[in-house]
Amino acid sequence: APVVVLASGTGTLLAAIIDHAASPDAAFTVVGVVVDRDCAAAQIAADADIPVIACKLKEYPDRAAWDGALAHAVADFGSDWVVTAGFMKILGPAFLNRFGGTIVNSHPALLPSFVGAHAVADALAYGVKVTGTTVHLIDDGVDTGPILAQRVVEVAPDDTEATLHERIKIVERALLPEVVDVLAARGVVTDGRKAHLK
Ligand code: GRF
Repeated sequence: APVVVLASGTGTLLAAIIDHAASPDAAFTVVGVVVDRDCAAAQIAADADIPVIACKLKEYPDRAAWDGALAHAVADFGSDWVVTAGFMKILGPAFLNRFGGTIVNSHPALLPSFVGAHAVADALAYGVKVTGTTVHLIDDGVDTGPILAQRVVEVAPDDTEATLHERIKIVERALLPEVVDVLAARGVVTDGRKAHLK
């Protein structure tokens, strides 16, 4: 199944998805990458010979125009699933109307705890003993969509945001591609706010 990935950062999660898609028994291929800024993720896609489109907010008159352009960029690739891998923008109504229910996100915390863009720092500041990662479908909230999978990551007493986030990302790099593979191969059953991989 064709998959488009949205990214904004160092692209380690994108790289893991691309690597998984390259394995012979993978149920999905990455047909395109869309970034919202110049970032290492764009270079990782280019190095993998995957078409990359940049859709930068500052190049549009307003957020609605940017959101619509993002939806068109993704639609032009033609995909069954959209994966946000370290994409640091909130997807707007036009995008959600078009792709809602087929957008998969990886969040570096155990939702519903620690939503938002500073989840790892917030978990560390709170003093939790375990945190983790959540793979979920994106809905119209921020990190509130139906949960598909979670994994626990222990917090060490000497952890910094960087060391804890890297340990979480190691788990994300294993979990997200696996979940996308199952979605591509067998789909998902949603029941209200609950979701179950088939
Ligand atoms: C991941 O931890 C993801 O959960 C969060 O941003 C990070 C992306 O890292 N939203 P990278 O840019 O793929 O290295």
